Amino acid sequence: MDGNGRWARRRHLPRVAGHRAGVRAIRPVMEACDRAGVHILTLYAFSTENWSRPRHEVAALMQLFGETIESEVDELHANGVQIRVIGDRTQLSERLQRKVAEAEGITARNTSAVLNVAINYGGRREIVSAIRELAARGVDLAQLDEEMVSRALYTAGLPDPDLIVRTAGEMRVSNFLLWQSAYAELYVTDTLWPDFGETSINEALHAFSRRERKFGAVPERAPAAVIETLGSPVG
Ligand code: IPE
Ligand code: MG
Repeated sequence: MDGNGRWARRRHLPRVAGHRAGVRAIRPVMEACDRAGVHILTLYAFSTENWSRPRHEVAALMQLFGETIESEVDELHANGVQIRVIGDRTQLSERLQRKVAEAEGITARNTSAVLNVAINYGGRREIVSAIRELAARGVDLAQLDEEMVSRALYTAGLPDPDLIVRTAGEMRVSNFLLWQSAYAELYVTDTLWPDFGETSINEALHAFSRRERKFGAVPERAPAAVIETLGSPVG
């Protein structure tokens, strides 16, 4: 969810106002995802690198996470959404950890949709912590396989993402879902996150629907009958 700062600067507002606008942008995107049949959404809210921001900005973001989780949990729960916070939560304040645990507890048995919120998330840290956990459980690391690692990640039990959307134009992965994004389709838009609404997410989903996903294999050719109906050569 990149571009909050630039959105604010263009309006001569403090960066924190951009983050608040960023929070307001979440709901329409979630609703559009739901209508489109996308039932697992991960929001990259704060990375392990974001602690290097000015202290007051970090504090404001943490405050905003707590407030937002608290104010949204009931409605998300009513809509059957399971909330999961992914990331190293041990570095969060006890207050925020409590709010996170509470929201997760309330929504734990919901099955309509999953909302992952990545807070203090880093893909590298996630992989290291997964392997440490496996080692601590006494798993023979010489026998380690991909399935074992997947099951020890914060996203255990969830499928890998099909689509990763990056707002505000940066062509970087920025330590996001490194393991899980192996075959994700990437979509980058110049739209700043606070301006990224229903139209933008639908454009991203439409672009995704036209991608040919090969997963490293040779694509299957369309059957001849289909080629004829389309009336165009398929190369
Ligand atoms: C939001 O956008 C990302 C968060 C860490 C919440 P930025 O704050 O990175 O916005 P820009 O890059 O300065 O525009
Ligand atoms: Mg940024």
